[in-house]
Amino acid sequence: MSILVTGGAGFIGSNFIIEWLQQSPSRVINVDKLTYAGNLQNLSCLAETEPHIFCHGDIADQGFIESLLTEHKPTAIINFAAESHVDRSIHGPGDFIQTNVVGTFNLLQATRNYWEKLEGEDKATFRFLHVSTDEVYGSLAPQDPAFCETTAFAPNSPYSASKAASDHMVRAWHHTYGLPVLTTNCSNNYGPFQFPEKLIPLMIINALNGKPLPIYGDGLNVRDWLYVKDHCAAIRVVLDKGRLGETYNIGGYNEKTNIEIVTTICDILDDLQPNPAGSYKRLITYVTDRPGHDRRYAIDAQKMKNELGWTPDDTFETGIRKTIEWYLNNLTWLESVTSGDYRTWMDRNYEQRNIG
Ligand code: NAD
Ligand code: DAU
Repeated sequence: MSILVTGGAGFIGSNFIIEWLQQSPSRVINVDKLTYAGNLQNLSCLAETEPHIFCHGDIADQGFIESLLTEHKPTAIINFAAESHVDRSIHGPGDFIQTNVVGTFNLLQATRNYWEKLEGEDKATFRFLHVSTDEVYGSLAPQDPAFCETTAFAPNSPYSASKAASDHMVRAWHHTYGLPVLTTNCSNNYGPFQFPEKLIPLMIINALNGKPLPIYGDGLNVRDWLYVKDHCAAIRVVLDKGRLGETYNIGGYNEKTNIEIVTTICDILDDLQPNPAGSYKRLITYVTDRPGHDRRYAIDAQKMKNELGWTPDDTFETGIRKTIEWYLNNLTWLESVTSGDYRTWMDRNYEQRNIG
């Protein structure tokens, strides 16, 4: 038995594969294009004997995906592959349309061609699980109820628009062709192996390097944070017990403003690695806001609890401490992913936010 995971060298995908292999003897075929965000070092803890097969390639290459499906005959596909960073989608939306829209389309077509040839039990039990985001729902005002699965889509960034398009295609391939799909829409993840362009790892690396901690706008935008291992557990539950054609919202009930997140990170770093120059909070710097910055996200994860029995294990307080400890223990990983390309991108991003 095997599953095919796309984007398995990225942040959530690599956490998912590591946990999957700890819990199940089935083989994992990992298809990843290895963009700047994909890093095989994330999987270096896997022993050579682990049933993990890495295949370098693009989900937009339908022929390549079809040949992998024919060769390995997976019982499920879990689609993590995407361009995932909102700031990058603002600077250059093309890659987002190519991977998140065209790529998902080609992956769906390849999957459909494979699935239609399956028979009996193999056909009945096959699943395509599409991993998506709460950003497809747009932005909440402070008094609004949290996003539920019936909230209307209102994507505001090129990233969220491209993810919304992919969600719609997944839905349509189920309704039109009967493809056995499941979709998950999750809130902000954090944890080991997150690329340090996203808020939490960026604040950790900048603090350790004595650099400014850039807060966009007034710092009062709210995100609903989920420890990545809780997200991975939720995906396993949806794959196992989710109803075909349904979407499931996944979140941690940890709504926090960005400034709360950054001051918490500073407090923990002050405790774990005090700096003689004083608290890391001295580095907090308010900068020009992200264009179209969504004000608040919050997930109502009742359906996951009531239908599938899933609730998160970690609170923000337990998850963030584990995360900071992981980064402090993995500084060589941080150094290796922050290459020349990364610096060029950060400089360009900071230029637009007036950070010297
Ligand atoms: P990531 O950017 O860390 O990893 C994405 C991975 O996909 C990388 O390994 C990259 O090389 C690979 N990839 C990109 N384009 C590809 C292509 N055309 N073909 C094959 N591989 C390709 O992203 P992440 O944070 O791990 O997110 C994974 C998925 O979860 C994405 O679909 C994202 O939209 C979704 N999601 C992320 C979060 C979050 O907070 N990070 C929250 C909700 C949903
Ligand atoms: O909600 C789920 C989404 O969460 C995922 O779909 C995306 O893939 C993921 O990147 C994330 O999107 P965000 O835009 O919310 O994440 P990011 O870490 O980029 O930013 C979190 C918040 O922090 C956001 O309000 C912008 C703010 N921010 C971010 C950076 C990088 C800052 O204030 N300063 C920064 O330097």
